[in-house]
Amino acid sequence: MPQELSLPVPDDFHIHLRQGQDLASYAKSAEQQFGRILVMPNTEPPVNSAESVKKYKAEILAAAPSLKVLLTFKLNKNYTEQELLEMRKNGAIAAKYYPLGVTTNSQDGVSQIEDMYPTIELMEKLDLVLCLHGEEPGVFCLDREKKFLKHLEKLIRIFPKLRIVLEHVSSAEAVERVKSLPQNVAATVTVHHFILTLDDIVGDSLRPQNFCKPIPKLPKDKEVLRAAVFSGNNKFFLGTDSAPHALEKKECLCGAAGIYSAPVAIPILIEEFEKENELALLPNFIAGFGADFYKIPRQNKKVTYIKKEWQVPKIIDGAVPLRAGEVLKWDRK
Ligand code: NCD
Ligand code: ZN
Repeated sequence: MPQELSLPVPDDFHIHLRQGQDLASYAKSAEQQFGRILVMPNTEPPVNSAESVKKYKAEILAAAPSLKVLLTFKLNKNYTEQELLEMRKNGAIAAKYYPLGVTTNSQDGVSQIEDMYPTIELMEKLDLVLCLHGEEPGVFCLDREKKFLKHLEKLIRIFPKLRIVLEHVSSAEAVERVKSLPQNVAATVTVHHFILTLDDIVGDSLRPQNFCKPIPKLPKDKEVLRAAVFSGNNKFFLGTDSAPHALEKKECLCGAAGIYSAPVAIPILIEEFEKENELALLPNFIAGFGADFYKIPRQNKKVTYIKKEWQVPKIIDGAVPLRAGEVLKWDRK
């Protein structure tokens, strides 16, 4: 068993850093874990213009100057080619599609994906990536991802060259579909969907801190997801979906969806890959396949982790992190 592990500095291709006062602490904590991040646009107000892309990037960099920051913008209106080019110039590499009301800050989400086709056609032409929150609103919560897959298939039929990422894939059906679609369809995998099932939210006691969208599903779903990653399939790469909410926003009458995983993501992954004897697959999963899919260079910086137990704080930056209070086995040197 290794006692030290040298890894490429990880990329996180799906992270939420929020806005205003909270932004600086979340950005700094991301900076301690990752070299490069793709930041989601569901802030208040949303990132949905060249101006807001530029401003958001500058705010993140002011707090975390060593991070390589890649941006997304919300796909909730049709953009002109000129606007898309300007957003790209300002640092955006992808659009994020949120169906209406499916998750945090999606009140401005889209009710008919077809309404977005004019922009999606331009994105295909410009080779901008489309990131999908792949859940169908209004159906039973555990079926939402499965019921969304018809939209994914239609998209790829109509826009065969479009690069699509099905974000935070959580169901066996979606994993299988991503595998069977062409190479321009990939998926991000979160740390929490890698280790949690519905039991960790409502099995024994109610654990609101594990509540997130899409909801962690059945043991079988988790196994299929893990098997895809442990097969070394390059369509599956890390996007933590680290989504901090203040403790009181999650433990209340109507709790917010989202898990704060950034501070613990890599130590947990090392532990999980080590358990399966698959540590050799970890570099590509955290710092290879995602960059390749996004057609950006892999980073060549390294970071060393050591086997040293540490207890996850009960609260970090006002939010309860994943595995709070538990002991993890690996830490940054
Ligand atoms: C995310 C958030 O809080 O912004 N919440 C979540 O449960 N994953 C939004 C999202 O990615 O769905
Ligand atoms: Zn997210």
